[in-house]
Amino acid sequence: TAEAATPQSRFPFTPIAAQTDYAFHVPENYNARVLVSWGDPLYDGVAEFNHETGGSVEESDKVFGENTDGMETFEIGGHQILAVNNEYVNSDINLPHTEDGVPQSAADVLKLQNLQGVTVVEIKEGADGWSVVRSSPFNRRLHHNAPMAISGPAAGHPLLQTEADPDGRAVLGTMGNCGAGKTPWGTYLTCEENFNGYFGATEETSYSDEVAAGYKRYGMAAESQYGYEKFDPRFDTSKNPNEPHRFGWVVEIDPTDPDSTPVKRTGLGRFKHENAEVTLAPDGRVVVYLGDDERGEFLYRFVSTNPYVAGGDTDGLLDDGTLYVAKFNDDQTGEWLALTPETTGMDEADILIFARMAGSKVGATTMDRPEWVAVNPYAVEAYCCLTNNKNRGVKANAGGDATPVGGPNPREANEYGQIVRWYPDGDDHASDTFRWDLFVMAGNLEVHSDAYAGSSNINSGNLFNSPDGMAFDSSGLVWIQTDGEDSNEGDFAGMGNNQQLAGDPATGEIVRFLTGPRGGEITGLCWSADRRTMFVGVQHPGGSWPAEEGLPRSSIMAIKRDDNGLVG
Ligand code: FEO
Ligand code: CA
Ligand code: CA
Ligand code: CA
Repeated sequence: TAEAATPQSRFPFTPIAAQTDYAFHVPENYNARVLVSWGDPLYDGVAEFNHETGGSVEESDKVFGENTDGMETFEIGGHQILAVNNEYVNSDINLPHTEDGVPQSAADVLKLQNLQGVTVVEIKEGADGWSVVRSSPFNRRLHHNAPMAISGPAAGHPLLQTEADPDGRAVLGTMGNCGAGKTPWGTYLTCEENFNGYFGATEETSYSDEVAAGYKRYGMAAESQYGYEKFDPRFDTSKNPNEPHRFGWVVEIDPTDPDSTPVKRTGLGRFKHENAEVTLAPDGRVVVYLGDDERGEFLYRFVSTNPYVAGGDTDGLLDDGTLYVAKFNDDQTGEWLALTPETTGMDEADILIFARMAGSKVGATTMDRPEWVAVNPYAVEAYCCLTNNKNRGVKANAGGDATPVGGPNPREANEYGQIVRWYPDGDDHASDTFRWDLFVMAGNLEVHSDAYAGSSNINSGNLFNSPDGMAFDSSGLVWIQTDGEDSNEGDFAGMGNNQQLAGDPATGEIVRFLTGPRGGEITGLCWSADRRTMFVGVQHPGGSWPAEEGLPRSSIMAIKRDDNGLVG
């Protein structure tokens, strides 16, 4: 294992060494406890988690969902509310009675549908640490069958109309909920990523050219990942070819009102959304940075037409604006290319429904899988994790754009990933030009001596691969979470399990803060209102984590200093 790095004064902790066990490690003088795990009851009277069955179908919409991901906290009238994504399922673990997790019945499918989406839950801190407030009126599960509205320029478009919803404005469910976002007006944004995997066709079908081209570019397959289409015709594209067009959006949720209807904001485009990083331009316009996590896809930006005014009407801010896509030049300049009918030859709704094709038309830069974007609160700059890309320079993406090596994607067979940073010209996130550099290129200097050794801020004490989650804390440190190869062998020797590191934007120094259990990914990061607790998610853990035995359960950890000091 790698040695721990020398403590750096900028970092309020002693960095830890890489780990390979089935445990969760934090630095000395810090502690970590489980806040909530998949299957924990959200309401009184609901059964505690059952390791034999993985929980009943009947109560599967009344427990904390599977595979925790992006999350945000909200302080509402003295209550601490956590909104958190439940991205996908580990069906072999969730359905222990099945062979390899393949659903055998409509009930099995319903259970999987109920365990995903979003959980909104009140939490509180007591003598034994943080816990869920069962039966809080704020608690809510927004699963694959929860009613949602569609708004913005693509709402009502014929491609969004179905037999059940001829108006194309009311949809059931949100899925593939990956990263998140938070607006200045106190709403939660959940981002629909790998929606394509939920649809299949039970019969051979000939689709219109437009639908077929979209299916191809968005990676639709004949068979879904979990077999929904065999038991739920809504997910059968031979019966409902437009249903997939109703996913791949950013959804706005009001955590203050459990009766509110979530709204899919089509103005932010349809692709495999990672997160939605919201900031304001100097003139008050709302800027949202958006990654499309697919090899060779793009980085996007939305700029609202109207400014945000505190206390003013915010309902249309994410509906009315312009979507842009990033072009990175080799000379470390770049530009945001507006996706408009003039630049793309497509109409406004088509631009949003098929944002990927619109991006291709204007010559956007194909990226190494854009994951989370984070905006520095103390400098006008933003960062995006480019997690990895085994096909860079070798293969085009599914839609056919070439993926040449160059710019912020400098390595072929990029198995380590990098973080690109851009500086908007005029210190204005709404500016259409920027300069860029790479904050870090991950690599392994123990194994390689070329570009695969990584950038100069990689050392034997901070080896990692596949940066994914990322957020700034209130002290200006940037926290980086990984979702990568944890074999600890070969090219990945010395990296250990997935982890969370802290970076100093000024010096580029990066040190390791925590490591997760083997087999799991670290994803999701937010803080309590008093900043004395950091909440971190663990997705698809291995072993029996967090227990000694039984089924492994994705969980959120509450991390504190032993002296109850600030944690970011
Ligand atoms: Fe859901 Fe791209 O991670
Ligand atoms: Ca991710
Ligand atoms: Ca990832
Ligand atoms: Ca993941």
